[in-house]
Amino acid sequence: MDAYRAEIIYCTNDPSKFGESSICHFEDGLLVVNSSGEIVACGEAKTLLKEWGGNCSYNEYKNHLIVPGFIDSHIHFPQTEMLAAHGEQLLSWLENYTYPVEENFCDKSYSLKIANIFLTELLKNGTTSAVVFGSVHKESVDALFELSYEKNMRIIAGKALMDRNVPFGVRENTLDGFIKSKELIDQWHNKGRLSYAVTPRFAASSSYEQLDGCKKLLNDYPDLYLQTHLSENHEEIDFVKKTYPTFQNYLSIYDEFDFLGRPSIFAHCIHLEKKEWDLMSNSKAAISHCPTSNLFLGSGLFDMKKSRSFDIPVSLGTDIGAGTSFSMMQTFSEAYKIQQLQGTSLNGFDGLYLMTLAGAKAINLDHRIGTLEAGTEADFVILNYNSTPYMEFRNSKCDTIHDRLFSLLMLGDDRAVSETYIMGKKKFDQSNCNDTYL
Ligand code: GUN
Ligand code: ZN
Repeated sequence: MDAYRAEIIYCTNDPSKFGESSICHFEDGLLVVNSSGEIVACGEAKTLLKEWGGNCSYNEYKNHLIVPGFIDSHIHFPQTEMLAAHGEQLLSWLENYTYPVEENFCDKSYSLKIANIFLTELLKNGTTSAVVFGSVHKESVDALFELSYEKNMRIIAGKALMDRNVPFGVRENTLDGFIKSKELIDQWHNKGRLSYAVTPRFAASSSYEQLDGCKKLLNDYPDLYLQTHLSENHEEIDFVKKTYPTFQNYLSIYDEFDFLGRPSIFAHCIHLEKKEWDLMSNSKAAISHCPTSNLFLGSGLFDMKKSRSFDIPVSLGTDIGAGTSFSMMQTFSEAYKIQQLQGTSLNGFDGLYLMTLAGAKAINLDHRIGTLEAGTEADFVILNYNSTPYMEFRNSKCDTIHDRLFSLLMLGDDRAVSETYIMGKKKFDQSNCNDTYL
């Protein structure tokens, strides 16, 4: 048994709905993890030490905060090498930068090399679970799953499906897309902590037949996830409407193929029409809000207040490589600013929720991850309040958990992540990290 003593905070529900009763906070807390990687207790250190102190290896952290591992609900692994590609909005960014880079992932060894960098960056940033797009090539997802399995991370991923309106290097025959997806599902879905997500990239790059194939896969394997993009950019919406001219709106295309009746993740959802908001609110689907991407590509401002009024679950995605940081703290920081521009003010508890439990709820895994409750999987992060001289100075001025947590999430980045644990095993330790990627 291992015990970790520090300040601890996690959510048991959405604080924007249920207020502070959704927050478990222990200023002097203890987290106890058993050898199977499960949390056996989490609470006040002084109380728990009486029960567990004798039979645990004991680790104490001053000026640190233990939180659940972060969950990134939308990220593209083959875009690891192309963050900060200059000057374009979505469609020309895809044409000029993204598709050419993704062509390289037909090669398994290249995919393995980038998957290693990708997963290392996730762990360095305190991200223990992610919902991931691969490229169109089966090799890319094989590589990602292979390394995620070795690291025992909870990764949900799928190969992108694209059979039209994209260059030949990233286009596939409709039937091949279906067969390769099925092979990946049979090999990886529910293996260890891995799950498969059927991944039509966006309606414009899939034929009617391809989306119909997705529907068949989802019917054949009821516990699969679905991930795609929705309503990100005005030009994109026009393009989608031209490719599916008989449909009322963008989301009604996905609805036609039953994508809304399961825990599907729709990235962006910035420019939804009234009918689309209604459709979403009557579904089981969730939105992944990707603030750094939306600002970087100039896509628009996501309306959190509206999504809350429709009671639609929202979590956060980095959307690497349109997003500009692997850090979920930096991602929340930009989410805060986007809502400020629209008169909504998120607090630190909202941030913590969006980065952890909201992601777990989006994929129906909130009984396992996104929390530190006893009986759940011990994916957690130890954050350093004093990771830079300025952070130390700022933290010295904080008197409340509200101020301490909010300033940490706003100003923090990978430097604030001291250690990252997967099922109770330390997978990242800043004090002996000397990774180089070249
Ligand atoms: N829409 C279709 N593909 C993509 C992608 O790779 N990134 C983003 N941000 N939007 C998309
Ligand atoms: Zn995306």
